[in-house]
Amino acid sequence: MAYSVTFLPDNKEYRINSDKETILDGAARTGIVLQGMCGGAGTCGRCRVILKGGSVRLDNGEIVFAGSTAAQNVLACSAYPIEDVVIEVPETSRLKEHQIKVSDDSSWADDTSLTLDSLAPLFHWIPLKVPEATLDDFEGDWERCRRQLVKERGRAVRIELEALRKLPVVLRQGDWQISCGVFGNENVPVVIDFAPGVNPPLSCGLAVDVGTTSIVAQLVDLKTGCVLGTAGTFNRQAAYGYDVISRIVYAAEVPGGTRRLHEAAVDTINNLITGLINRAGVAYEDIKVTVCAGNPAMTHLLAGVDPSHIRIEPYITAANSWPALDAKDLGLRMYPAGKVVLLPGVAGYVGGDIVAGAVVAGLNRSEQVKLLIDIGTNGEMIMGNNEWMVACACSAGPAFEGGGIGCGMRAMSGAIEKVEIHDGGEHVRYQTIDCKPPVGVCGSGLINGLAALHRAGLIDRSGRLVRHAAPSRMRRSTAGLEFVLAFAGETGHGKDIVISQSDIDNLIRAKAAIFAGIQTMLNLTGLNLEDIDRVMVAGGFGRYLGLEDAVAIGMLPPLPRERYEFIGNTALKGARHALLSRVIRKEMDTLARQVTYLDLSSGNEFMEAFTAGLFIPHTDLSLFSSIGK
Ligand code: FES
Repeated sequence: MAYSVTFLPDNKEYRINSDKETILDGAARTGIVLQGMCGGAGTCGRCRVILKGGSVRLDNGEIVFAGSTAAQNVLACSAYPIEDVVIEVPETSRLKEHQIKVSDDSSWADDTSLTLDSLAPLFHWIPLKVPEATLDDFEGDWERCRRQLVKERGRAVRIELEALRKLPVVLRQGDWQISCGVFGNENVPVVIDFAPGVNPPLSCGLAVDVGTTSIVAQLVDLKTGCVLGTAGTFNRQAAYGYDVISRIVYAAEVPGGTRRLHEAAVDTINNLITGLINRAGVAYEDIKVTVCAGNPAMTHLLAGVDPSHIRIEPYITAANSWPALDAKDLGLRMYPAGKVVLLPGVAGYVGGDIVAGAVVAGLNRSEQVKLLIDIGTNGEMIMGNNEWMVACACSAGPAFEGGGIGCGMRAMSGAIEKVEIHDGGEHVRYQTIDCKPPVGVCGSGLINGLAALHRAGLIDRSGRLVRHAAPSRMRRSTAGLEFVLAFAGETGHGKDIVISQSDIDNLIRAKAAIFAGIQTMLNLTGLNLEDIDRVMVAGGFGRYLGLEDAVAIGMLPPLPRERYEFIGNTALKGARHALLSRVIRKEMDTLARQVTYLDLSSGNEFMEAFTAGLFIPHTDLSLFSSIGK
């Protein structure tokens, strides 16, 4: 069997070859990414499409024909074509491309103590004069190159087949003067490229933050360390699940799931590469090395390795420290014999992204106690100084990325990012990203909104909406009470934007998990909140976070404002620094091995702290007595 699926209005076609492939899979294969928050479990309803032609079989065995009432509301993740079909994809079901705003630092050592002198990129050219072959000296081309390299550098070297294929021609083109392109992350450096002449061509590296929600890539000139461009977009894996756990489940339970998630991540990075090289005027082949920082699940999936065991007790990774991979094996659009380095992780839920962040934030060089928090779906955090470090992941869930929230969305155009509530709830003012009419609420808007609801007395300390407050906006729906943030007439999609009781419950659970993670780490180390000298908030989310509101709802500790610092995308910075500095690479390797990993699922301590945090700001008000001072 092979059925064609035509997607409208894109007019893209895909041939489905297996009765296990859903409309959602077909869409993803054609580059149409649907919102798949529940990972294809059929529960979130976000992947709705309209069947315009043909018929499909649903998960429950029901057959739906075009033109029927049911055809208006087909869940793409649960529908299998049984003949050629035509599918209309509504705008509301699409995950739209969006740009991640990342500043282009022109200096590579912008926030570390590194200098240009210590620049030691992962790939570099070595100019070489090779003794010409004669009838009396019949050594092979590689042997004579190697002899010369060892003589000049005093180190053994290896060679990749791709480079060997080039060598005979390049040697003679360059009249026995060549540039050897060396990848140098290993004990024995490996020659991966040759160029004729001793003036080597441009060589670039790519630093990538492989986030669960978004992927950001940065093109770097390896000789100068300058950034040539930065680009980011959503991770196409989002079509198969909103958070880490739903993607691991997809990989584990859907045949070919790991491969599909791997391809989705690679597709995303390849698209970013195409944009970056076009803007910078360089070629794919100029990218010799890529460094990726991601959480353990993202790292596994990028490598095409099944991450299932991360989710099963005792939560073990396939590897924390990864060997350098070949670009061509991964399918990345760069020099085919180029190398891909995956930054080392600590354990099942603390990966290379947080290790990169800890080094960028200087935890390993600090005498002060620093706490680094990366508020994503996984809520990874690391605390310590130059003598000790402890790390954990508190599974905050996707609420702060808009997941599991009825009107939640990512930080994209039209997302409400700030909320003010006046007159006891009768008037609401909001600010949206790009000043567009609102279409949903993103993480910062949700935190801000929760604090505003509490301040206005519209929710009590346990987060219950107050029934008779603000009669024009508080109402009862079939699912319970909800508060209207924006009425249909003012929104971009003509529907009310509300925050419901179940949204509030999800947000309170997420904030409680983050604070409980911090408390559990403090207990383990015998410290108090006051002992934290600096709190560093990382991640794109951190840039828009209203600190006072995050403290007011009990998500972040009530410490003086000056102890807080928003440090942006440390995973990306760390990946860039690892591209360029041997010192940084060494620090990351050492840190990953030395951090004490705290598994929050074992023991009762985290659960007790979590339960105590399910109030605003907390059950123990004395912890937050400084709020407002
Ligand atoms: Fe289809 Fe959630 S219902 S992805």
